[in-house]
Amino acid sequence: MLKVEGPANLLAYSGKEVDAVYLGRQAEAGTDSEKKVASLKAAVAEEIKGNPKIAGLTKEIQIEKGKAVYMQTCFVCHQPEGQGLVGQIPPLAKSDFLAKIDNEEKIRGVLAGRTGEVVVNGKTYNGVMIPMNYLSDEEIANVLTYVNNSWGNSGEPVKIQDVTRVRKEVPPPAKSNFE
Ligand code: HEC
Repeated sequence: MLKVEGPANLLAYSGKEVDAVYLGRQAEAGTDSEKKVASLKAAVAEEIKGNPKIAGLTKEIQIEKGKAVYMQTCFVCHQPEGQGLVGQIPPLAKSDFLAKIDNEEKIRGVLAGRTGEVVVNGKTYNGVMIPMNYLSDEEIANVLTYVNNSWGNSGEPVKIQDVTRVRKEVPPPAKSNFE
């Protein structure tokens, strides 16, 4: 505490506690209180994450944002309704191939591109899908969540952290033609 010697100067300090502007104690209490608020906020965030209704709404947001990415990046090839182009671009709508692969492989496909033979709904395609690693982790998570949940597809949302993790992995070396 601050100690002041000499006669009381009532202009500076009336002597009544209520007028005191010295906030030492309260400020200390404030940091404790701030800590408590922060930990309560963290608890709320944790609770929200575990709430299936909120998780569902989060997925809806991802789908909506992902649609915008799809309409800028993927639709030129896969078409607005995910129907693809006969003989050239495989469909994403009700694609049995899409239903078979996990989110990690879907992420890798967008980051590294795709080439080589692929059979989708009984038809064989052999084209080139360009790597789209210029998209952000969030954009990739959202666009794949949109694809997973559109045109009759139903799948899990794709987490941003998963895209971050897959991006860090060294891409597998290209297959040799002499294998
Ligand atoms: C330049 C055209 C092009 C663009 C743009 C493109 N794709 Fe593809 N995509 C292809 C082709 C071609 C294949 C088949 C590749 C092969 O033959 O191995 C394919 C295959 C796929 C497959 C696996 C096969 C299937 O139909 O289930 C997925 C999933 C996919 N693309 C998702 C996407 C997503 C998501 C985007 C946007 C971020 C995207 N593609 C953008 C051309 C494209």
